[in-house]
Amino acid sequence: MSDEKNRVVNWALIGAGFFGDMYAQIMTALPNVDLVSIFSAHDENLNKVGDKFNIKKRSTDFREIINDDEVEAVAVITTEHHHFEPVMEAIKAGKHIIVEKPLAPKVSECKEMIEAAEKAGVTLAVCHILPFNNHYSKAKDEIERGAVGDIVSAYARRAAPAKWGDTIQQHSSAMYDEVVHDLECFLWFTEFTKQKGWKVKRVYGQQLDVRGYPKPDVNWASFTFENGCVAVFEASWFIPNSSPYISSMDSQMMIHGTKGMVYIDLGDQGLKINDEKGWRTPDVTWWPEVRGNIEGALGTEIRYFADCIMRGEKPVDNIGDPKRAAYALELVLAAEKSAASNKIIEM
Ligand SMILES: NC(=O)c1ccc[n+]([C@@H]2O[C@H](COP(=O)([O-])OP(=O)(O)OC[C@H]3O[C@@H](n4cnc5c(N)ncnc54)[C@H](O)[C@@H]3O)[C@@H](O)[C@H]2O)c1
Repeated sequence: MSDEKNRVVNWALIGAGFFGDMYAQIMTALPNVDLVSIFSAHDENLNKVGDKFNIKKRSTDFREIINDDEVEAVAVITTEHHHFEPVMEAIKAGKHIIVEKPLAPKVSECKEMIEAAEKAGVTLAVCHILPFNNHYSKAKDEIERGAVGDIVSAYARRAAPAKWGDTIQQHSSAMYDEVVHDLECFLWFTEFTKQKGWKVKRVYGQQLDVRGYPKPDVNWASFTFENGCVAVFEASWFIPNSSPYISSMDSQMMIHGTKGMVYIDLGDQGLKINDEKGWRTPDVTWWPEVRGNIEGALGTEIRYFADCIMRGEKPVDNIGDPKRAAYALELVLAAEKSAASNKIIEM
């Protein structure tokens, strides 16, 4: 394929963990992507994912991978504590970037990346997955056409079985890692209202440690916007392991407005199985494997960003906006600070 709008883009994958493996599976199935190289900090993952998807160039040095002239775009799927350096290296090298959420653990790092990408004129898109789920994207369309009127309150829940927390709560809290999803999505929705005053003026967070892990089990955050809207989001990796949400999450969002409401309930995802162990709800929403391909929101997301980069086009509807991702991060960090100090934070 040779014309500018319909060609194969050479990509590098930076990160080969749980999500990097899925990115590799999705990207190697796309007709307009050639996944030419891969970085991982650890040889074991590097060769596991490299062998599985037949990726020729491999390195434990991300600079070598990113500065390869053959590479045009990079997907940064390392843990967020290691997003900053490869993203900055890619910007310096003039490569387009998609990067997993949260953009970085520090707001200052987010701002530096955004400014550098703007200066260099490269795409920096943050992979917040919710806008690629049809429920959330259709909700945005309804909000945009005025179905709910002025938004006055919002509630969201993102809850996963306790066994998820056994590992992830050693280094991350659901406030920082999960509330950021619903908040970023809610901030995205509000961009499509005629309502003004969509800056948060007050944040109150509450967290509770139950199991004695380094990060808390219970996480609630309340955000008050300048226009008076109140949003309360909760997240945990702490619901019973016997709950049906074994391979997915209990994800809900409720938005109330002056004229109507939006209610998203992805708890059972429309598919319930009852076997000898009881009820379970397999993932059909986020990254289900169907006929050997990873589909759902993650598949749609990567395909969409790969198309945008191939065509040299900006994502529609501000999807992937790094400034919104940075703002969502700033707010969840404020919620954690509020919880730690037991004080309301004025923004
Ligand atoms: N959108 C979602 O729903 C969702 C779900 C899971 C993960 N994620 C995001 O994906 C990203 C990766 O998560 P994961 O679950 O694959 O993590 P993981 O721990 O399985 O893999 C992490 C990767 O980071 C790399 N890494 C570790 N230490 C490093 C270092 N010192 N320098 C450079 N790289 C290093 C590892 O080599 C590995 O490739 C995170 O940003 C996470 O938040 C998003």
